[in-house]
Amino acid sequence: MQSSYDVIIVGGGVIGCSIAYHLAKMKKKVVVLEKDRIGSKASSAAAGMLGVQAELEEDGPMFRLGRASRDLYPALAEELRFLTGVDIALIRSGAMKPAYTKEDMEKYERIARWQKAIGETAEVLDGKAARRVEPALSEKAIGTLYFPEEGQVSPPSLVWAFSQGAARYGTEIREFTSVTDMVCKNGRFDHVETDSGAVYGDSVVVAAGAWSKRFFNKKYGADIYPVKGEVLSATTAAPLLKTTIFADGYYVTPKKGGILYIGATMAPHDYSRTVSIDGLHFLFEKAKRFVPSVTKASIKHIWAGQRPMTNDGLPFLGMDPECDGLYYATGHYRNGILLGPITGLAMAELITGRHGDEALLKPFSLDRLARIKEVKS
Ligand code: FAD
Ligand code: GLY
Repeated sequence: MQSSYDVIIVGGGVIGCSIAYHLAKMKKKVVVLEKDRIGSKASSAAAGMLGVQAELEEDGPMFRLGRASRDLYPALAEELRFLTGVDIALIRSGAMKPAYTKEDMEKYERIARWQKAIGETAEVLDGKAARRVEPALSEKAIGTLYFPEEGQVSPPSLVWAFSQGAARYGTEIREFTSVTDMVCKNGRFDHVETDSGAVYGDSVVVAAGAWSKRFFNKKYGADIYPVKGEVLSATTAAPLLKTTIFADGYYVTPKKGGILYIGATMAPHDYSRTVSIDGLHFLFEKAKRFVPSVTKASIKHIWAGQRPMTNDGLPFLGMDPECDGLYYATGHYRNGILLGPITGLAMAELITGRHGDEALLKPFSLDRLARIKEVKS
């Protein structure tokens, strides 16, 4: 007799593994189908910043989702460590956005105002005060927007902890299993086809990152494409930074253990995983502008990964309008590590029909594709 699951997850990145973890904790019979190794794609390439305040510059659905996810982290880190022994390396050592012009300062004043109004901690510092917090910051920075509580994690450890935790709760993890087709019958999900046979389940979740587009019905017009990012890590004899320095999408971030990550380039529609000399040169120039003495650091590793980008830059989180039991949780672009915990929890609640915060997910449902089409035509 063929085995059948409550939920099949397609893709073993942070999103698939977090959903599997939360569903398995709710006693669901889950299988994760991963075409390569668990966490081998974007989720291990990430820098691991939980950049709610530094990356998301506007109040809106993404900020609210990011904030909800960030707030889950402290308890989750403990829970995962207790269950699996894996330390996800959560640290909350802050982030700052350096200002080089009067316009930067004005923009940062505005951001600090609305963030403080909703209860976040955000301080605008002049250059002197900024360098008291972070002495290595460039003398060219006339000030900074400082978020003392912004945090970060180790992405490979996070995915590993989610997958190990899911397995502890009974999830089956099948690596090197590629899903080739998704079959719905009479408006209901039936099974997936893989390169090693059919897998049956009550529900399926597409969490295949930048490779998800093939599983959407073409008529919805969902676009999901890769935005490649190159990153390098470096070490210094003595710690150079305490906080993340982040501006215009680029960053130098100090990891637990005295390593710096310098990232990341942005190349849409590029599935390659090579790191170019041009890319590295570009990153060196960005990093030097933040922290001139970074040139003395020694390079440790270089790598690249694919961020899953969508039509409007927001993830798709919800059920297919025409196939009951077929769910999507993909397109987290630059923030999948930040959003992993809330995506896992909220999708598990949605799939099991539990009462969660429905308003949190609503802006990310597939319904918005119709609106995007209207605007375009
Ligand atoms: P992935 O991790 O790519 O996982 C998808 C999985 O699906 C893959 O393992 C793939 O092999 C599998 N798959 C694909 N097709 C199939 C198939 N047909 N069958 C079975 N399996 C399949 N986010 C942050 O929050 N903070 C950061 O600091 C940060 N920094 C980043 C830096 C870089 C350079 C990059 C590239 C990304 C960064 N991100 C960051 C974004 C974050 O990494 C992504 O949003 C997140 O990892 C997406 O997770 P995912 O599980 O959707 O995708
Ligand atoms: N969030 C950092 C990056 O995507 O590079």
